[in-house]
Amino acid sequence: MAMPYVSKLAFAQSPDRPFMPIPALVNGSDGPVSLKMQTGLWSFDGKIKTPTWGLSQDYMGPVVRTRRGAELALHYENTLAEAVSIHGHGLHVTGELDGGPQRAIRPGTSWSPILPIVQEAATLWYHSHTHKRTGPHVYNGLAGMIVIDDDNSDSLPLPRRYGIDDLPFIVQDKDFNQDGTLLYNKVGLGRFYAEHMTVNGIIQPRVEVPKGLVRLRLLNGSNGRFFNFTFTDTRVFHVIAGDGGFLEEPVEVTTLFVAPGERYELLVDFSDGLPATLRSVQAERGEGTSPAFNPIQGEQTICTFEVNPRIAPDLDVRVPPRLNDIAWLDPKEAHITRHFTMATINRKMVINGRMMDMARIDHRVQKGAVEIWDLDGDVHNFHAHGCSFQVLSINGKTPPAHMKCWKDTVITDAKASFIVRFDHTASDAFPYMFHCHLLEHEDMGMMGQFTVEA
Ligand code: C2O
Ligand code: CU
Ligand code: CU
Repeated sequence: MAMPYVSKLAFAQSPDRPFMPIPALVNGSDGPVSLKMQTGLWSFDGKIKTPTWGLSQDYMGPVVRTRRGAELALHYENTLAEAVSIHGHGLHVTGELDGGPQRAIRPGTSWSPILPIVQEAATLWYHSHTHKRTGPHVYNGLAGMIVIDDDNSDSLPLPRRYGIDDLPFIVQDKDFNQDGTLLYNKVGLGRFYAEHMTVNGIIQPRVEVPKGLVRLRLLNGSNGRFFNFTFTDTRVFHVIAGDGGFLEEPVEVTTLFVAPGERYELLVDFSDGLPATLRSVQAERGEGTSPAFNPIQGEQTICTFEVNPRIAPDLDVRVPPRLNDIAWLDPKEAHITRHFTMATINRKMVINGRMMDMARIDHRVQKGAVEIWDLDGDVHNFHAHGCSFQVLSINGKTPPAHMKCWKDTVITDAKASFIVRFDHTASDAFPYMFHCHLLEHEDMGMMGQFTVEA
């Protein structure tokens, strides 16, 4: 049977494309952060108005900044017409505060969690985690970034001028109907791919940078698209942090594979003054960064960096030789190995043969116990709540150097394993989730629940 034809909106390529917007920055130390889920109108191309959703803004939410040792007070208010759960992805908080599907905020109501921030400096994010509706909600705009600082991040000579040389960089793909509305066209059990690459909500934007070192806080906020980033001039850049914090040392790369939900912090040197185009290209297989079956779906232009000589570079920043000390977990200390097989069986998306059931707890974990989680399946993207973990292997090989940091999301590429210790509790009423972070897979049931018991 032929697929129904969907007429998509095309955009004229123009040399004066809009600049990449910088999301508002809200500091959690200034008092409770109000995040009002609302409808909005946003232009992805600088011209056409598209109905969107946002949190206290038209599309997506502000960057929320907090600090290790602080209490981050959030006030989520739902003015939308349907219930929404909002989850802090990568946050080490209890199940009660985690914002999973059980914590639905009904229309006209609010939720005001106070989150103790106990983890190290990292770039995290918050997004809708609504039962069976996460994909369309995130696509509409219910997502935003969280930045955690700590004494270590303060002491490093890294770019830290928000919006100038320290840039939130949220990459997503979007499709549009002829009338300019967002087109959410998920095809069967496949992955969701759209045609237009956006950064911070603008299609292939121009990004203004100083003539010097720039830090990108990269979040793949796509529903289902994998990216293999590279610059057209193949310039070298440094990965300095992954999902849950800094690497021990910067890792020099020319390409970087990033799955949905993953974050990396990059340092890119623009001191040559030349413009640079960031692309996503087909990945070569190898080293766990590129799956057996290539999910990139074509080459894409992401954005163009343009050096603006009027932006003064910060002359004190550099690529530090040392970034962090990571307490590595020892596989010999693991109490248990749990297996998770992600598969499509009879058109059902399952983990260990079962679809998500809010009434079923799949695993019961002891707080403080070291565990190994062994994943297999084809190309999926596994995420666990309430923790950061250390990747032990991908497809039987040691993970690439830029994954040697705390992570919370990992591509399975046939097989992967990680070591983890859960330090926070999650009850039967508010368990943690584990799931595929391809949002359509999650919505279709590739998710389960676990408690962490004291
Ligand atoms: Cu980013 Cu369970 O989610
Ligand atoms: Cu999460
Ligand atoms: Cu999946």
